[in-house]
Amino acid sequence: MIEDELGRPLRDLRISVTDRCNFRCRYCMPRERFGEDHTFLPKRALLSFDQIERVVRACIPLGLNKVRITGGEPLLRPKLPDLCAGLSGLGIELALTTNASLLKSQAKELASSGLDRVTVSLDALDPKLFQEMTDGAIPVEAVLEGIESAVEHNLGPVKVNCVVQRGVNESEVPDLVSHFRGTGVIVRFIEFMDVGRTNGWLRSQVLPSESLLAYLQRDFDLIPVEPASPHEVATRWAHSDGSGEIGFISSVSSPFCGDCVRARLSADGHLFTCLFASGGHDLRAIIHSDCHVDEITDAIAAVWSRRDDKYSEIRSSKTKSLPRIEMSYIGG
Ligand code: GTP
Ligand code: 5AD
Ligand code: SF4
Ligand code: SF4
Repeated sequence: MIEDELGRPLRDLRISVTDRCNFRCRYCMPRERFGEDHTFLPKRALLSFDQIERVVRACIPLGLNKVRITGGEPLLRPKLPDLCAGLSGLGIELALTTNASLLKSQAKELASSGLDRVTVSLDALDPKLFQEMTDGAIPVEAVLEGIESAVEHNLGPVKVNCVVQRGVNESEVPDLVSHFRGTGVIVRFIEFMDVGRTNGWLRSQVLPSESLLAYLQRDFDLIPVEPASPHEVATRWAHSDGSGEIGFISSVSSPFCGDCVRARLSADGHLFTCLFASGGHDLRAIIHSDCHVDEITDAIAAVWSRRDDKYSEIRSSKTKSLPRIEMSYIGG
């Protein structure tokens, strides 16, 4: 097992399989920056499924026990179930983060290929607000059907991630809690973060989890739930009548860098040790070579052992001006 400079192990690898998305969420891929003329990664630059599998195999001796497939929107990558089938025999938990717009038609095959569970990004139930926030033509019903399909095919516990922006979608929060109560789906509210350089983040747009919880407690009787692991990013609360659970991810008001066990691999083979990194470690040469997988293990171990990132803990006016990679390139 490997530890970084702050004693944190490498447990969780998030793998982006494409930098493209069929949504244009204003806070992630605003259309004016990610329009017709935006240069996405060319197909030939994407790691193949075999190459991705080699990287995962390389991380297992270092202590890896969870892989999350992300994007952009990962379901845009053709034949994704083939990747799941390759990774599912490796003894790690396999999860997927998706906007669920294409999930209805793919859930069954993903489940039978060995995907364990799905997390869906959904910021609004109101059809008009959903359309405004995602700036696209796909209706919210498609996402809700995708979620139902994931539940039906046992890709659970299915989680819904809602990024809350003050003045934009906080009114959706109680509706999301009510909508998913009693369905087994766990909704988690994420504080809006300053990832990337294109979302025009302002601290005043962050609605702290503490305020959100106090607001929800007026309508719902919520009791705290113990974390299942110290590396969990969400604090958990349950409806007192046993009808379900919700969560809060307080990355701005209560950073969790001390327990951060996550590495991120971009679709073209760069390894990032923090969501807010200015740059990645270029693993392309070694991944594209036909070296023994141990050599990839050594390369990743060398990167991880020098890791000292704790951006969210040291966020300040100084860190604000540093270059940062876009979320759509490395996934959540
Ligand atoms: P589970 O496997 O279900 O526990 O997933 P998770 O909670 O580890 O991951 P998920 O990708 O669902 O994380 C939810 C959100 O939390 C992400 O979309 C990010 O907004 C935020 N988040 C996750 N990991 C990090 C991190 O390492 N740093 C920061 N600052 N935020 C993170
Ligand atoms: N702050 C918090 N979460 C974000 N995500 C994307 N951008 C941000 C941001 N600025 C989340 C999305 C999705 C995941 C991939 O990352 O909601 O759940
Ligand atoms: Fe696509 Fe997710 Fe970004 Fe929205 S937040 S544009 S669904 S990658
Ligand atoms: Fe991990 Fe960086 Fe997020 Fe801190 S800011 S929790 S180090 S990814």
